[in-house]
Amino acid sequence: MKIGLFYGTTSAATQEVADLIQDQMSDCEIEVFDVYEQDLNKMSDFDRIIIGCPTWDIGLLQEDWRSKFDELDNIDFSGKKIAYYGCGDQNIYSSSFLDALGILEEKITSKGGITVGQTSTDGYEYDFSKAEKDGQFVGLGIDNDNEPELTEERVEAWCKTITEQFK
Ligand SMILES: Cc1cc2nc3c(=O)[nH]c(=O)nc-3n(C[C@H](O)[C@H](O)[C@H](O)COP(=O)(O)O)c2cc1C
Repeated sequence: MKIGLFYGTTSAATQEVADLIQDQMSDCEIEVFDVYEQDLNKMSDFDRIIIGCPTWDIGLLQEDWRSKFDELDNIDFSGKKIAYYGCGDQNIYSSSFLDALGILEEKITSKGGITVGQTSTDGYEYDFSKAEKDGQFVGLGIDNDNEPELTEERVEAWCKTITEQFK
């Protein structure tokens, strides 16, 4: 199964999760791209896409995703399955926890993308999140700032789910 993983990061947490995902999904052929140096048009080459974006500056996309956000308008995501993950901080940024995930999911869904890999909000404590839709997160939430000990098991469980849903 050929998958494109596109991530942006400012302080490396989202990149580390990309590495974990690659380890967990070693049976799949995953090509990894840092959006800092990659045009988003490259997404057109894949029918299975993983997107990693942390939330920064109180409810905003990470800066590289922010500067390339408009490129998403030029991509047809019809029929493509998309899985989202994001790093955030549910304590300090409780009112905008993981917002970036929700922003990207909304845009890509409007361009025809089919979201997979939704997760339960159980076990997280926050006031508001744009990533919450119909009572669940649109993707995987990682909080390395407060719960680094949970990251590996969260990634492992999620990778199993999306491996099935990508089929
Ligand atoms: C100035 C600042 C603003 C932030 N804003 C948010 C936010 O609104 N929502 C959130 O969930 N996390 C927020 N965070 C937490 C980051 O998303 C978190 O540290 C994440 O792990 C960074 O990912 P990266 O290392 O891949 O850049 C913020 C962090 C900083 C320093």
